[in-house]
Amino acid sequence: MPTFKIDDREIPFEPGETIIRAAQKAGIDIPHYCWHAGLSVAANCRMCLVELMPPPGRPALLLDVLAWDKDKQEYLPQKKPKLVPSCQQAAADGMVVKSQTSEHVDTARAAVQELLLLNHPVDCPICDQAGECRLQDYWLEHQASKKRMHDEPVHKPKGVVFGPTIVYDAERCIMCTRCVRVSAELAKDPVLSMRERGNLNEITVAPGRQLDHDYTLMTEYVCPVGALTSSDFRFKARVWFLRSARSTCVGCATGCSSFSDFDPRNQKVYRYRPRENEAVNKFWMCDEGMLDYQRIHQHRVLAPLIQGESVSDSAALERAAELVKAASPQKTAILLSAEHSNEDNLALLDLGKALGALQIFYTGRAPGKGDDILMSEDKNPNVAGVLALSGGRAKPLADLASAIKDGKVGALVALGSAIGNPNDAGVLKEVRNFVALSTHEGPIASAAAVVLPASSWAEADGTFVNRQGLWQESDRAINPQGKSRPAFRWVQELAKLLSLSLPWKKASELRALSQGPSLSAPPPAAPVGGE
Ligand code: SF4
Ligand code: SF4
Ligand code: FES
Repeated sequence: MPTFKIDDREIPFEPGETIIRAAQKAGIDIPHYCWHAGLSVAANCRMCLVELMPPPGRPALLLDVLAWDKDKQEYLPQKKPKLVPSCQQAAADGMVVKSQTSEHVDTARAAVQELLLLNHPVDCPICDQAGECRLQDYWLEHQASKKRMHDEPVHKPKGVVFGPTIVYDAERCIMCTRCVRVSAELAKDPVLSMRERGNLNEITVAPGRQLDHDYTLMTEYVCPVGALTSSDFRFKARVWFLRSARSTCVGCATGCSSFSDFDPRNQKVYRYRPRENEAVNKFWMCDEGMLDYQRIHQHRVLAPLIQGESVSDSAALERAAELVKAASPQKTAILLSAEHSNEDNLALLDLGKALGALQIFYTGRAPGKGDDILMSEDKNPNVAGVLALSGGRAKPLADLASAIKDGKVGALVALGSAIGNPNDAGVLKEVRNFVALSTHEGPIASAAAVVLPASSWAEADGTFVNRQGLWQESDRAINPQGKSRPAFRWVQELAKLLSLSLPWKKASELRALSQGPSLSAPPPAAPVGGE
């Protein structure tokens, strides 16, 4: 592999890679605003300037400049190396780059910082980006000096509503055009552009349009400063109080890698962010997925229920055991859920096996909008996992509805909350011995005689198999809400009451079994350098 040097460190690179990307993959941050690994190169902020040393025997590229001479107290003509934007310059074998060891680079970065902050309102105390803003970080690292301009800064529009999800503050904008490129290149909807020039320019939405494509929150996500804020997140939390868990989005079968940002003090999830994964979502998530965290705290079943009345854990478990015992194995059915992890589904499958139940079905959320960017029409994260775990034996919900109508189902143990076809909701109510393990209110919980409150995907570690057949982990972010427990824990309790033994005791054993031979190997670790 070819290599080049940054500040005496040898960096390998793929042919065609830019200096900044190769450095980022090697864990070296060259300061930047406009560059993003997933977007085209704009090279307009000039924060990533580096000094290129000339190859042996070749003269350096020099610029004529005027420099202040302290002794003579006047500007004198001098030569200085021409700096290059490392976001645009392709790496070359044997190249020698100075990033942190060049006084010219230091001066240039400080000057860029000062220019960007000349008209900035410095309203950090009320800015949602505070704590994760590059202007703040780079001021400290590369400028760290007081403002020299004391004139009234140029004022621009604030609080401009770009669309249903995004609010724009032109005074904080550094015109890096990342948001413009996300709209044009990721969402394929060039609805944003820049207008005016110099210190009057601002980002604007195309006349007659709103910023309303399916990836609007990615414009806010890539904005390196607080110019774009999400209507959903703004003024809700300070980022330094939040912690992050490595999660997998359960909004659809794509299974984008994400971070769940939560506040450990109130055990609440506040937002999702994309986690870089070259094999699945690269750097991105869709709006539907980004806002899907809201379901963690909405319409939850938080206590055990018998006929809709809240009861104790033990009362619900005992009643559930009675209902399941009352039916013969031939008439006992298991309903798996593509909303739930492999662990929850395998636990229920194991219970079914121990009961001798031969009828296995699966369901999940109804299909929705898909596209050729990320979004899948299948709005469940784990259809592939459910089918693989059941060895392809799980039949769709329509078959369960027919079996119920034919009187073949005496007891039903169901996992999940939603059903793919709302028309099947009525027939579920015909099963009297119906035990549900549900996270949310919905057709399953309302039809069941006993409901055991299951923890959501954010409250338990779990694995999911996406539409490509990739096995992906999702880590627990918050504690189980209310009296909920991971569904596999309820199954374990139920099995104990029924005097049945399951082939696992600990969550780690269940995890190992739920990776079964029919599931593919985990994808390689995501490359470093997401932002
Ligand atoms: S709004 Fe943000 S992303 Fe868009 S140009 Fe301004 S600073 Fe860049
Ligand atoms: S494409 Fe699917 S998995 Fe990815 S963010 Fe959107 S809803 Fe989530
Ligand atoms: S990152 Fe903006 S010019 Fe290179």
